[in-house]
Amino acid sequence: MSIQYDQQRSLFHLQAQDTSYVIHVTKTGYPAHLYWGKKLRGMQLGRLLELKERASFSPSTELDQLALSLDTLPHEYPGYGNSDFRMPAYQVMLPNGTTVTDLRYESHSIRSGKPALAGLPATYTESDDEAATLELTLKDELTGLTVILSYTVFEAFNAITRSARLVNNGTDTLQLLRAFSLSLDFAHDRFEMLQLSGAWTRERYVHTRKLEPGLQSVESRRGSSSHMQNPFVALLSEGANEDHGDVYGVNLVYSGNFTAGVEVDQFHSARLFMGLNPFDFNWRLEPGEQFQTPEAVMVHSGHGLGGMSRSFHDLYRSRLIRGTFRDQTRPILVNNWEATYFNFNADKIESIARTGQELGIELFVLDDGWFGKRDNDTTSLGDWFVDRSKLPNGLEDLVSRVKRLDMQFGLWFEPEMISPESELYRAHPDWCLHVEGRRRTQARHQLILDLSRTDVQDYIVKSVSDILSSAPITYVKWDMNRNMTEIGSALLPPERQRETAHRYMLGLYAVLEKITSAFPQILFESCSGGGGRFDAGMLYYMPQTWTSDNTDAVSRLKIQYGTSIVYPVSSMGSHVSAVPNHQVGRITSLETRGNVALSGNFGYELDLTRFTDEEKETVKAQVALYKDVRHLVQFGDFYRLLSPFEGNDTAWMFVSKDQSEAFVVYASVLQEPNPPLNRFRLKGLDAKRDYRLDEQGTVYGGDELMYAGLATPQFHGDYASKVYRFRAVE
Ligand code: DGJ
Repeated sequence: MSIQYDQQRSLFHLQAQDTSYVIHVTKTGYPAHLYWGKKLRGMQLGRLLELKERASFSPSTELDQLALSLDTLPHEYPGYGNSDFRMPAYQVMLPNGTTVTDLRYESHSIRSGKPALAGLPATYTESDDEAATLELTLKDELTGLTVILSYTVFEAFNAITRSARLVNNGTDTLQLLRAFSLSLDFAHDRFEMLQLSGAWTRERYVHTRKLEPGLQSVESRRGSSSHMQNPFVALLSEGANEDHGDVYGVNLVYSGNFTAGVEVDQFHSARLFMGLNPFDFNWRLEPGEQFQTPEAVMVHSGHGLGGMSRSFHDLYRSRLIRGTFRDQTRPILVNNWEATYFNFNADKIESIARTGQELGIELFVLDDGWFGKRDNDTTSLGDWFVDRSKLPNGLEDLVSRVKRLDMQFGLWFEPEMISPESELYRAHPDWCLHVEGRRRTQARHQLILDLSRTDVQDYIVKSVSDILSSAPITYVKWDMNRNMTEIGSALLPPERQRETAHRYMLGLYAVLEKITSAFPQILFESCSGGGGRFDAGMLYYMPQTWTSDNTDAVSRLKIQYGTSIVYPVSSMGSHVSAVPNHQVGRITSLETRGNVALSGNFGYELDLTRFTDEEKETVKAQVALYKDVRHLVQFGDFYRLLSPFEGNDTAWMFVSKDQSEAFVVYASVLQEPNPPLNRFRLKGLDAKRDYRLDEQGTVYGGDELMYAGLATPQFHGDYASKVYRFRAVE
C-alpha cells in the first residue's frame, strides 16, 4: 500500500514511485503539512515539523505550547478567524453571521483504489491496486461542519490527487464562502512560479516570476477556465529547468471559475492553493447536505519541468481521458470552417471531402452554419435542425455522400448557447443566464443557456442526441464562444443566485456525461473559441480540444509548447490552414505549416480543392508521414528541446515508450545572416542503441544524439522547419 500510517507518531506517509507527501496530525488535532517532494524512506519524519515561538502577532492557540501558532503551522486545510492570517482554504458563514470555524482531526481511513467524485470529472483507476486513498475527516465541534480531505496516490504516475468534501452534520444552514481543493505550505519561498496565460488566439504562453512576499495568483471570473489563465501553476526550485531540479505542478480538474497561486508570508513560507474561485461564490449547505470540491492533481518531478509534463501526460492519457478513443490513434481530418465559413452547400462540402479522400485524409468535419437560418453569427444557436436552404436533402444525405467517399463525417455544435434571434429564444426567453430587469449582454450576438436548469439540460441532450442519431456521425466539435455575464438563474431563489456559475458547470458535466456515454462511437473534441476551455475537466468527457483559433504555424509554436506543459499532445487539435493566415496575415510555407501541425491531432482547415498539383503532392506526403508517426505523437513520450519563449528556434520530439522510434520537429522563426554552426541535443533515447535517420539512412548512436547532438539545420528564408524520423537499428 502506498499510504503508511504511524499511529504513535500521528503520521501519514503517502508514497508514489519517486515522490513522498507527509502529513502529521498535531496533538491539538490540526493536520500539518510536513513534506512534498523526492521520495523519503521510513516514518521518522515528525522532526520535519519545526516550530518557533513568535511575537504576539502570531498568537499561540495553546498556552502550554507557545511555539504552536496557527499562523506559522504548515497546514493541510487552513481556516480563518482563529489566528492563521494567511489565505484560508475554506470559509463558512453560520446563521449568526460569523465566519469562525475550527476544524480538528476526527478520524481517517485508508483504502486501495479511488472513489469517484459525485457529478465532477476526475482521474480514475481501472483496478484498485493502481492507487490508494487516504480520507482525513476533520470536524468543527460547534457547527457540526465535517470536512473530508481526500488524497489519492497514483504510485506509477508519481501523482497525488486532492479534493475536499464539506458535509453539514449540524442542525443549522451553513453558507460556504470558499472551498478550495488544495492547500499546502512549503517551508521556504525559493521558487519561481510558472503559469500559462494569454488571450484568444495566444493561449497558454509560459510566464514565470520569482515568488515575492504577498499574494501571486491566477484566476478566472469568466465562467470558464478561460483563454487568459489556465487552472495550473508550477513551482520551480532554485536552478530547476526543463530537465533538472524539483518542480511541483498543480492542475485543477475543472472548467469554470478558479483561483490558484501562492501566498508568501512574513517568515518566507509559501502557501500553495488551488480551487473554485471564492469570488462571487456562495453555496448554501442545508443540514445533511454535502459539497464536493473539484479535484486538484499534484505532480512532483525531480527531473525538471519535462519530467512533470510527462507525468501529467501519462496520467491524463490513461486515467483521466475515457472511452473508446482513449487508446486509439485519432483520425486526420479536414474542417471546412476557414475554407467556407458560413457559405457552403452540399456540393461544395462533397468536393472538399472528395479531395480530402484523394489525399489520404480520413474524416470530414462540417463546422458552423448547417442549422437553423445560420448564414452569419447573428442567429439560430439553439435551433438544432438542418438548414434546408443550404442542405435541401438534409444531413443524412450529406453524410451518406461523404461516407460513400470512404470518409468519416463529423459535425460542429455550440449547444450551450442561444441566439436571441432563434425559435428557441422566442419560445423560452428565460432559458438564458440573466438577471431580471437588467440588460442581457450579448457577445457574438449570443447569450448563454442556463445549464443549472434541468429542463435546459434535457433540451440540449435531446436536441443534440436527435441529430447524432439521425446519421452515422463519428466526430463532434463541441464549441462555446463567450464568457458569462449577468450570472443569474430564473429558477434559483435569491439566496442561491451565487451558486449559478458552479451549478452551470455541474449541469454541463451532467449533459456531457449523458451525451458522450450514449454515443461511445463518436470522438468528441471540445472547443471554446479555440482554447478558451482547454482544461482537465473537459478532457474527462472529450479526449481532445481545439487548441487555438490561431492556426498560424509560427504562433502555434508558442501555443502548443505552452499547452504541452500540462496537457498531452494527443489532446491538442492542430491544423494546416491557408496563407496569408486568417488570424495574423503571415505567409508560411506549406511544409512548415504541416511540420507544426503534425505535432498534435493533425488536420487541414482550408479549401483543399484550391491546391495546385504540387501542393497536393506535399499534402499527400504530410498525410503519409503523419500516419507513420501518429502513434508516437499521440502516445509517445514528449520532450521539449528548444523553447520558443527563449529564442528564435523551437524543437521538440516524441519517443516511443520502448525507445525504438522517435520523431523530431525543428522550426526556426527568422533567418539570421551567416549563422554560427550549432548543435541541438535529443532526449529520451536509449544511449546504448543505434538509430537510423530515415532521410539519409545515417546511423547515429543514441548517446551521440543525446550527448553530442545533431547539427542545427541551416535554413534559407524565414519560418523554416525540418523533421527527423529515427528508428532503432536492431
Ligand atoms: C470558434 C471555433 O474556435 C472555430 O474553430 C469555429 O468552429 C467557429 N467558432 C465557428 O463559429
